[in-house]
Amino acid sequence: MRKICTLELFSAKRVGSFRWIREQEVANLVKTLRTAAHQGEPTVDLTDLAHKLSGSVTSKSAFGSILRGMDETFLEVAQNFGDVTAGFRTSDLYPSLTFLPALTGFKDKLEKMRLEADSIFDAIIDERRSQRSSMSSSSDGEVVEDYLLDVLLNLHENPSRLGYPLTMEVVKAVTLELFIAGIETSAKVIEWTMSEMIKHPEVMRKAQTEVREAFGEKGGDVEEASLHRLKYLDNVIKESLRLHPPGPLLLPRENRESVELCGYHVPAKTKVFVNAWTINRDPRYWSEAEAFCPERFDDRVIDYKGNDFQFIPFGAGRRICPGFDFGVEVVKLTLANLIFHFNWKLPGEMRPESLDMTERLGASVGREYALLVIPVPYHEN
Ligand code: HEM
Repeated sequence: MRKICTLELFSAKRVGSFRWIREQEVANLVKTLRTAAHQGEPTVDLTDLAHKLSGSVTSKSAFGSILRGMDETFLEVAQNFGDVTAGFRTSDLYPSLTFLPALTGFKDKLEKMRLEADSIFDAIIDERRSQRSSMSSSSDGEVVEDYLLDVLLNLHENPSRLGYPLTMEVVKAVTLELFIAGIETSAKVIEWTMSEMIKHPEVMRKAQTEVREAFGEKGGDVEEASLHRLKYLDNVIKESLRLHPPGPLLLPRENRESVELCGYHVPAKTKVFVNAWTINRDPRYWSEAEAFCPERFDDRVIDYKGNDFQFIPFGAGRRICPGFDFGVEVVKLTLANLIFHFNWKLPGEMRPESLDMTERLGASVGREYALLVIPVPYHEN
């Protein structure tokens, strides 16, 4: 699965090919916010909007517009899977009690969810297959590779490309994994970064000045191709990921051999959780570790691709997030547009410094309370 993700689904070329989807979906979000702002009741739920945006970018990149009407159900199924399989379960605390998952109904629950996901998948795959056969008969048999599902179906139909067969079970499992792993994480990064900028108006001003200078004071389009010019926004996103990694415990691992670690004996085959949340805030590596300060990255070259172990929001090593580029592009394009086109206020008398930042544990860690904010258009159109 990892090889397919890294080489086939999330190569730089493939992620680049979905740029039009990201730009279209973000432009729709800006339109929705502008309409809300002009309708006199402008408080919007940015938590919900970020989730919808991330969901539509992922489902359009995966399936095009096949989902029609099934979006909600499919996204719900993916979210339920994520919630159920995330974090600790009672059986993790008593790993020798192998009967526990069955006793707690965990297996039955997973089985039921899998059947639900399968029936939606079968409909999607059937529809795409018939679209593909009419497309290839009208285009001299050229390989159709418009969406992620096409890439997987091509691998399924041509086993020699990978060197081993890709069953339909794996096609479905990989697709579901992308939905579980990709949607919530990117949405949470957007909501946390907006929350931190709203809570720290001086950071918001600096980031807005940068993006408005880069893309034109008078308005215009924030193009993905020029986002590399926004160095300060990069640092804001990094700082937000440091304090609010959406996957605080990474993926569980299992050690192959027994080891002595920090005075503890860890027997082989122990389930190991890595607490990235704590590592990202360790005062031995970060001065004023609890403070939100994007400037800390100005003169420190700290990578977040798992090379600097004090900062691992995408994990590290062989299990590191393969959707890194996909996620970062969505997050950066969305944030750049949100702060380019709008100034942001909190409803009522609420002051920025009193914005509640309580976390809520789920498949990924987001805000306990939805981010309710008021967009004030900065440009006329
Ligand atoms: C920007 C937001 C994202 C963050 C912060 C993030 C973070 C993570 C983390 C911490 C892990 C576990 C890594 C480890 O244990 O070492 C992970 C795994 C994974 N991520 Fe992401 N991710 C993001 C976006 C995405 C996107 C957009 C996709 C795909 C559409 C994706 C696909 C995956 C997959 C498939 C895995 C599992 C890899 C495996 O099982 O080995 N992620 N991600």
